[in-house]
Amino acid sequence: MNFYNEDCIYGTKKYLKDNSVDLIISDPPYGINGDKLDKHYNRDERNVLDGYVEVPENEYPEFSMKWIQDAERVLRPGGSIYIVSGYSQLRHILNALAETKLQEKNHIIWKYNFGVYTSKKYISSHYHILYYVKPPCNSVTFNTNAFFADCEKTDNGGSMNYLDREDVWIINREYKPGQIKNKNELPKSLLTKMILYSSNPNDMICDFFLGSFSTAKVAIGLGRHACGFEINKNAFDYQIKEIEKIKSGELLAELRKVPENKLINKGKPLTQEETTQIVLEFDSLIRKGYSKKLACDSISNKFGRGYWSILNIIGNNNQNKNTYETISLGNF
Ligand SMILES: C[S@@+](CC[C@H](N)C(=O)[O-])C[C@H]1O[C@@H](n2cnc3c(N)ncnc32)[C@H](O)[C@@H]1O
Repeated sequence: MNFYNEDCIYGTKKYLKDNSVDLIISDPPYGINGDKLDKHYNRDERNVLDGYVEVPENEYPEFSMKWIQDAERVLRPGGSIYIVSGYSQLRHILNALAETKLQEKNHIIWKYNFGVYTSKKYISSHYHILYYVKPPCNSVTFNTNAFFADCEKTDNGGSMNYLDREDVWIINREYKPGQIKNKNELPKSLLTKMILYSSNPNDMICDFFLGSFSTAKVAIGLGRHACGFEINKNAFDYQIKEIEKIKSGELLAELRKVPENKLINKGKPLTQEETTQIVLEFDSLIRKGYSKKLACDSISNKFGRGYWSILNIIGNNNQNKNTYETISLGNF
């Protein structure tokens, strides 16, 4: 069994070897003295498991330093870590990360519903997700087309892949009336996003603060392995039985099937001959009455190259410079 009812700061040293984990997803306690969050949430607290362990605010800097140093140690070279944090203690987590060799990839904003209601200031409805990797970066797993192929378009003609990979994520919390839950459960779709972009089947995914075991449940459901720690015995004893009900890979059938990527030449070097063909094709389509956008779309599909690289070729080509020099990214 890979799950331990222990303080992660001691547990990682006892059970996890150096470089043994492919991905860490962790949502540490908030470090808010006299946590009053329950009063702001409109929910039945009788369904929330007792025993959630907080970290006193004055201990938060040292606590963050300790568990993040261990996270760095157990992560394999090229492994990724996502840390979910509110803004109250964010600076301590950033300071702790700065003391490691982990490299920042993105500072993601997760915008959720059911914000913490306040009347005399703005309503807080986002978390920070710090996405870092352990060098060397050339072996980092990032599955660019985990959710959308490069050729998939929104109704407005935008790239679905681009939109999905923006660093502001709008993902609703789950409303689970009548169900037993942890105090701050992460939604399945948020975890699915991090796991599919940053891991492969059979990878080992670790959560230092399991809570409801949400990371582990989704990881196993997606055909990965999972491990982790939860200090609260009450939550641990309940969830350890729940996780046994999850079958490896059972969530894979729910995933949307990503169409085959038509952009088979994306990233390959361009020949002069291909450049000329693209410019001629563009010229011919414009003469036929195509808009610039439709012409670039059509050429992108035909030549198996990205939309923006087609735009660059057209824009950079001297022969077309005068005619098309007004093309700016904004027009598309
Ligand atoms: C924000 S919650 C995690 C919620 C979890 N991501 C989920 O979706 O249910 C933080 C959890 O860390 C646990 N915890 C606090 N200190 C800990 C420690 N030193 N080691 C392990 N778990 C700890 C708390 O009891 C709580 O369940």
